[in-house]
Amino acid sequence: MPVITCIDDLKRLHRRRTPKMFYDYAESGSWTEQTFRENTSDFDKIYLRQRVAIDMTGRSTASQMIGQNVSMPVGLAPVGMTGMQSADGEIKAARAAERFGVPFTLSTLSICSIEDVAENTEEPFWMQVYTLKDDDFMQRLFDRAKAAKCSAAVITVDLQLMGQRHKDIKNGLSAPPKLTAKSVANMMTKVRWGLGMLGTKRRFFGNVIGHAQGVTDGSSLATWIAEAFDQALDWDRIREFRKMWDGPLIIKGIMDPRDALEALNVGADAIIVSNHGGRQLDGAISSIRALPAIMDAVGDKIEVHLDSGIRSGQDVLKALAMGAKGTYIGRAYINGLGAMGEAGVTRALEVIHKELDVSMGLCGRRNVDSLDRDILMVPNDFEGRWA
Ligand code: GLV
Repeated sequence: MPVITCIDDLKRLHRRRTPKMFYDYAESGSWTEQTFRENTSDFDKIYLRQRVAIDMTGRSTASQMIGQNVSMPVGLAPVGMTGMQSADGEIKAARAAERFGVPFTLSTLSICSIEDVAENTEEPFWMQVYTLKDDDFMQRLFDRAKAAKCSAAVITVDLQLMGQRHKDIKNGLSAPPKLTAKSVANMMTKVRWGLGMLGTKRRFFGNVIGHAQGVTDGSSLATWIAEAFDQALDWDRIREFRKMWDGPLIIKGIMDPRDALEALNVGADAIIVSNHGGRQLDGAISSIRALPAIMDAVGDKIEVHLDSGIRSGQDVLKALAMGAKGTYIGRAYINGLGAMGEAGVTRALEVIHKELDVSMGLCGRRNVDSLDRDILMVPNDFEGRWA
């Protein structure tokens, strides 16, 4: 058993053990990958203020996200094709999350279906919803989430169009993978992954196949996003979704204070400041840099969460101290899943939890609700003075 001390250890194993096509899918940003890179490098520009000789006993990372108890405010973000990183990957990740006491968010673009995950877990999970043109599909998706007892819907609003990720095109990304000389040669070196895939029937987009109309190639993510997703999406349409779902609602993909206000007006319970992990608008600022202006605009009226760029507990601590009530990891847990399956997701959560707990203590704080900007040293021009 390899000694895992940080998310980078899991990432190295993920790369070694999972077909290149799927590792690359996770480890990509769009176009030049500027935003993808800056999501992480901007966290490094914020410093933590060390304090000493403060009683550090009795620390706790427990908190709440949208009123639900969490052992730390770090959810598992929706990630497409998770069941291609490891067989039945969404079920494995959901199980690891429920044991750890953090929310798991199932992507519309998952391999395991809503029903698969519900049947194989105990705790309610959250359902991420993409906005498709097909009204029946949308209503059924919300109904299926309700029948599966999902305790929140997360509507992603930043993918009307798909940002191009060069590697996916070059690798011919699909689920299940198309068998070309190159992909077969690569998959043959991933024995554990291959055995897992042979042992499951879940190799297609489980929420879509047999549910969505008008998709000509159901194995290609890019094709069915181009064909089925609603480029005409607007806030009135999002209001219709609000009516289709009467449970807690989170709107994901907010980068501008004006859009944060719109989400508030629609009646969302929380927003997620997110640039989709740098996978959509390349050239957008990092999500941690976008957070302060959004906190100023709506922070006292709605719960604000953040994803994109979090790879450590220190990053979580910085986002919380800047005002976020919750954070999400995507690639960090996918690295764990691709490296070691369910145990790897648990290990990713343990790593982040320990980093958060110890760093919080070394900043002189004992619980996450007491975190504020005072533990940070933020460069004066961090938020930018944009023309
Ligand atoms: C889908 O959400 C993707 O970013 O690939």
